[in-house]
This record gives sequence, C-alpha cells and structure tokens, in this order.
Amino acid sequence: MAGRKLLISGGGGGIGAACARRAAREGWFVLVAGRNRGRLDLIVGELVALGGRATAIDLDLEDPASVRGAIEAASRACGDGEPLTALVNAAGIAISAPFLADDSTARLFDRHMEVNFHGARRLIEAFAPAMKAKGHGRIVNVASSAGLRGYGYTAAYCASKHALVGYTRAVAQELSGSGVSIAAVCPHFVDSPLTDASVRRIVEKTKQSEAEARAFLAQQNPGGRLITCDEVSDAIWSLIEGDENGSVLELDGARRVRLEGPVTRRPKT
Ligand SMILES: NC(=O)c1ccc[n+]([C@@H]2O[C@H](COP(=O)([O-])OP(=O)(O)OC[C@H]3O[C@@H](n4cnc5c(N)ncnc54)[C@H](OP(=O)(O)O)[C@@H]3O)[C@@H](O)[C@H]2O)c1
Repeated sequence: MAGRKLLISGGGGGIGAACARRAAREGWFVLVAGRNRGRLDLIVGELVALGGRATAIDLDLEDPASVRGAIEAASRACGDGEPLTALVNAAGIAISAPFLADDSTARLFDRHMEVNFHGARRLIEAFAPAMKAKGHGRIVNVASSAGLRGYGYTAAYCASKHALVGYTRAVAQELSGSGVSIAAVCPHFVDSPLTDASVRRIVEKTKQSEAEARAFLAQQNPGGRLITCDEVSDAIWSLIEGDENGSVLELDGARRVRLEGPVTRRPKT
C-alpha cells in the first residue's frame, strides 16, 4: 500500500512514540500529535534521522479549537486528499484521587472524559467518514485494563476508559462490513512516562522508595512485571496490519488475550 498515513495522538512519548517509531520503520508517513511541541519535534527528528517521514501536529484534546486546528493541519499535511490509513488514539491522562473529594475532583472527571474519551471520539468522527468512503481504514484506541475493571482512587480514569471500550464495541458493530476496523488495546501497567508520574505520586504520598513504588505497580500486573511500550505498540501494529474489526486485546504482562472480536456481522439496515 503506497502512501500509508498514520496519525497518533499522544505520539510525543511512551506508547504513542513507540508506535510512531514502528510506523516509520514500516515506511508510513507519521503524524505525531500532542500538546508538547518540543517532545513532538524530538520524535519527528528521530524518525526523520532514521529515514522515515513524519510531521508534528499541535493538539490539545481539552481545547475544541485546538482539536479543529489539528484536524485541519493533519489534512493539509497529508496533502494528497487521500484519507488517513490509520488513526491511533494514544493520548491519555491518569490522575488519581478519591471518588469523593472536593470541587477539584468533579473537574477531574470532566478532564478525563474530555481527553480519554471525547478526544478519541472527536478524532474518529473527523477521520472515519473519509475512511468509510474509501472502504479502508484502521482505528486503534489505547484504552487500559482500567477500561475492563476498577482500580481504587482512579474512578475518573476508569470511567473514561470504560467509556472508550464501550464506544469501541458499539462503533465496531456499525463499521462491520465497511472495510474500516476499530479495536481497543487494554494494557495493564506499562513502563512509560504516565507510570513514572504514578510512581512519583506514590513516593510522595507513602514515602516508599521509587524502586519500591515501581515494584508495587509491576506486581499489580498478572505477569508480575511492567509491560514495555514496544509490546503495546506490537499489539497495536497487529491490529493495523490485520483486518479484525471489534477486537479488544488485553495485555497483562504475561499474555496478550483477545477478550472479544472480531465482529464480522453486517449491521442491520
Ligand atoms: N502507562 C500505563 O500504565 C498505561 C496502561 C494502560 C493504558 N495506558 C494508556 O496509554 C496511553 C498512552 O500513555 P503512556 O503510558 O504512553 O503515557 P504518556 O507518555 O504520558 O502518554 C500520554 C500522552 O497523552 C498526551 N496527552 C495528554 N493530555 C493530552 C491532551 N490534552 N491533548 C493531547 N494529548 C495529550 C501526552 O502528550 P503531551 O503531553 O505532549 O500532550 C502524552 O504523549 C494513554 O491513553 C494511557 O491512558 C497507559
């Protein structure tokens, strides 16, 4: 497939950057989107130095004007009027708090829903129509094991990731037979900047050492270790290269489990 193009939200680091590297190695044009222009430019520089093609797209999923601007910038960057081949929604925030706290907690629910759910939804709504018209496209949502079960003190995060998984399942039914697939990956704790931030918060709150906090999180994974960003990127890539629609893949540090999918039925008209 010539001219394959992938937009990755949250492409400036962690899982998104691992996915960007993989795509560039495979010869795709990679659009890395996020808030931190410095980090995006670093990744783009890295990909170009490797012989890949990439560009940075400014995107703040909490700002509707920025989302609109990013969608326009991505369309301009693609240049040829052809739709994206694939969209990976990797951007996400995870801020822990008791479910009953203070006014700031209510705001946390809004922020998690805005970034982790509506952000992904808005990008899908922008790019899926052209994919459908073309009869080909791949959408992968980076959800979480928190989209499948609950973890204490992360009600906002869990709610937003459950929303994303439910949305993925429903949209897969509607996309069935269209040539466009949607899927979700649900990793447990990953060795990434997001987990580094969780480690820092645990250290602050419990006075554990950084190594103890990291080991604690690793032990929460059924595999007893943190998952690597490359492992998640490999799972994402298997969904981009395959044609499975509606798959939900759980990565637990021991195994990659297909919880459901693919959806093969044609939707009722
Ligand atoms: N780490 C884990 O244990 C784990 C486990 C399961 C699922 N996940 C999910 O994996 C995804 C990637 O996370 P990661 O682990 O790779 O950590 P990460 O490096 O912190 O990635 C999160 C990305 O989201 C972007 N982002 C955050 N807020 C944004 C906003 N308002 N607008 C646009 N982009 C925004 C960040 O980029 P900027 O700062 O440049 O905006 C960052 O690149 C997330 O959806 C996360 O929920 C992570």
